[in-house]
Amino acid sequence: MLGGDVGLELGLRVANALKAALDVEITPVEALIRPAAPGRGADYQCNVAMSLAKRLGRPPREVAEAIVAHLDAADVVERPEVAGPGFVNFTLRREWLEAQTARLLGDARLGVPTVEPRRFAIDYGSPNVAKEMHVGHLRSSIIGDAVVRLLEFAGHEVIRHNHLGDWGTPFGMLIEHLVDQGSTGAGHSIGDLNGFYQEARKKFDADPEFADRARRRVVALQGGDETTLALWRELVEESERHFAAVYELLGVKLTADDYYGESFYNPFLGEVVEELEAKGLTSISDGAVCVFPPGFTNREGEPLPLIVRKSDGGYGYASTDLATARYWTRDRGATDLLYVVGSPQAQHFKMVFATAEAAGWLDDDHRAVHIGFGSILGEDGKVLRTRAGGSVKLVDLLREAVDRATAVVAERSKLDEARREAVSRAVGIGAVKYADLSGDREKDYVFAWDRMLAMEGNTSVYLQYANARVLSVVARVGREAEPGTPVLLAEAAERALAVKILQLPAAVAAATEEYAPHKLCTYLYETAVAFSTFYENCPVVQAPDDDTRMSRLVLAQLTSRVLALGLSLLGIDAPNQL
Ligand code: ARG
Repeated sequence: MLGGDVGLELGLRVANALKAALDVEITPVEALIRPAAPGRGADYQCNVAMSLAKRLGRPPREVAEAIVAHLDAADVVERPEVAGPGFVNFTLRREWLEAQTARLLGDARLGVPTVEPRRFAIDYGSPNVAKEMHVGHLRSSIIGDAVVRLLEFAGHEVIRHNHLGDWGTPFGMLIEHLVDQGSTGAGHSIGDLNGFYQEARKKFDADPEFADRARRRVVALQGGDETTLALWRELVEESERHFAAVYELLGVKLTADDYYGESFYNPFLGEVVEELEAKGLTSISDGAVCVFPPGFTNREGEPLPLIVRKSDGGYGYASTDLATARYWTRDRGATDLLYVVGSPQAQHFKMVFATAEAAGWLDDDHRAVHIGFGSILGEDGKVLRTRAGGSVKLVDLLREAVDRATAVVAERSKLDEARREAVSRAVGIGAVKYADLSGDREKDYVFAWDRMLAMEGNTSVYLQYANARVLSVVARVGREAEPGTPVLLAEAAERALAVKILQLPAAVAAATEEYAPHKLCTYLYETAVAFSTFYENCPVVQAPDDDTRMSRLVLAQLTSRVLALGLSLLGIDAPNQL
């Protein structure tokens, strides 16, 4: 089968039929094979006749009939049927399905192929020094981590980098505030980062003498003054400790080695601007060096600048991001740059990418994608805040998730204390992640504890329970089916579960290629539901005979492996018992 993907296999057969029938060349993907809607009486449908009809100047039904007439797929499907305006409906042959399903048991990747590897550099997490991480950074960390896991599983090389906001003018006031507190750069503990930032800000606004010191401090920092740098490092390290605690709790792959903060790019900024100037891409506007990438205008229709060097000679956010594009493609050989950052920055990234293309840092072999995402809203539909109106601290949020999960798990679980703790953490953190990943990332979503920790519906705890239940069924049989065990799909529910299991490669591919983890979530939920129907209708331990029991055991083992693999690609643990 083509890469373990049933849809692609059918696509290949359709492509061959079209070539034979009408001398039309298409790829298997272009054959537009989709799982058929439930109740259609088919497993897959092919939609290509409609899209080809126009091009070929023939009625879509005629194109569909021609596909059917020339189709060489009797090993895979029953006789296909043309339906509606020109769909071709496919029903998989029982023997073929049985063989494909049985084959999966010996396949560690469950039919998911590896691809031609590329080198990805992915920017995610990316909080700011001396500020608490907020929910936007939570989304970036969760989505970015799922994308990393999906890409690595596909066989790509992935370099993670955490674009820490650790440079720029705010550091003048932050360092002076640190000095006022008696620090000399030899270690210090800031309990409350947000409080620290706000106090510094307040002094900066109220006290001209302080503001003056802060400004001089910025100059000293940029000039590389040692004492100033030591104080700056103290602030950065202190913040990194806070971030590491969140990453640890969250179980994301970001580590101390992945920090490539704004300061990292500082030494390159001069060259970046020079190169843009030399390539004739810049112009001076109000004393600042700007690039005006074509096609970007404000409401008045005036061209929008990307400011690459400010009139005071300083560099800003845009300069640094141009440096990232240049550094990762040119110095690190990355072929794909991913930026997991909230959608409000969409325009910034479009302008950066357009400029990087004009500069030659991005081209057909060096691509950049902004993986944007919406906001997390409170139950009042507004941006998530604490009751006091402040921004929600991530550590608090995650601790609450684990506490709530502990209550949920305690209600049902017969586990001992120690196991229960690990399970509560898997359930609580899983719930937060899954709530974030299971919807289209571009959309906002409402953060609601009850919904994300619900036992029923498309939640991680539902999937975790489903997996634990499958494993308990397997345990009750008392032995595991070995690869090679024949699969028998006599009952409709057995068949439906097998069809679902075989859709894993397509679901993983869609989630990976489109940076759309929610497509994998939907698939996992459907699989868990298919198992539940199967289990209601097809007893495993009490199966009528041993062959049936072993075949059902194969289906159960595969279901558990699909769920556990799927959850792991989302960064969510699947405990054996709950
Ligand atoms: N620190 C920024 C923020 O909190 C996000 C940085 C994203 N990455 C980037 N390369 N611009 O908004």
